[in-house]
Amino acid sequence: MIATPQGPAAVGISGSPSPTSKSRGLVEYALARFKAEGAVTLLIDLAALPADALLGRGTSDAVAAALDAVARARIVVAGTPVYRATYSGLLKVFFDLLPQDALIGKIGVPIVTGHGAAHALAIDHGMRPLFASIGATVVAGGVYATSAQFPDGKAGPELLAAVDRAVREALSLASR
Ligand SMILES: Cc1cc2nc3c(=O)[nH]c(=O)nc-3n(C[C@H](O)[C@H](O)[C@H](O)COP(=O)(O)O)c2cc1C
Repeated sequence: MIATPQGPAAVGISGSPSPTSKSRGLVEYALARFKAEGAVTLLIDLAALPADALLGRGTSDAVAAALDAVARARIVVAGTPVYRATYSGLLKVFFDLLPQDALIGKIGVPIVTGHGAAHALAIDHGMRPLFASIGATVVAGGVYATSAQFPDGKAGPELLAAVDRAVREALSLASR
């Protein structure tokens, strides 16, 4: 499997402030799939981190640990709701704290949930350049999900299959 000398091989970043976040649920599902393939995994829930440190107005051991975990990961899954047609501000401020070139040699997996299909390009116009701006290689199959793909509040089988495909692609890239 993915070899990293220290730290988790696959880190998931949740950029939703919602306590019942759909995108976080998909990130957790992706991490479970990586874990099933033998990867050590870690979820970074940005909503649980101190806002002052995320905004650069102070420092925090928890934020420093989260940045360090990303630095040592091989695969970075980033989940976010669509807010105003792109990723959340919460995800943006965390990415702004990562050093330039922080994701060189790493694989990025974008997961976005929006209410409707109109903003599906948040994957290609938002998440893909966000990842690429600091060096990540982004999987071709990013995942965009609408509210209708969560019947009874749970991700449907086609949506989970899309996450499975993204996970398989990330594992394939990581093994090269
Ligand atoms: C402030 C705000 C802005 C939103 N903007 C959009 C939008 O532009 N397009 C869209 O399809 N959904 C939009 N939504 C709906 C959320 O993207 C959608 O409910 C998403 O599934 C929430 O993901 P989460 O449960 O992970 O937080 C918005 C919701 C909020 C609260």
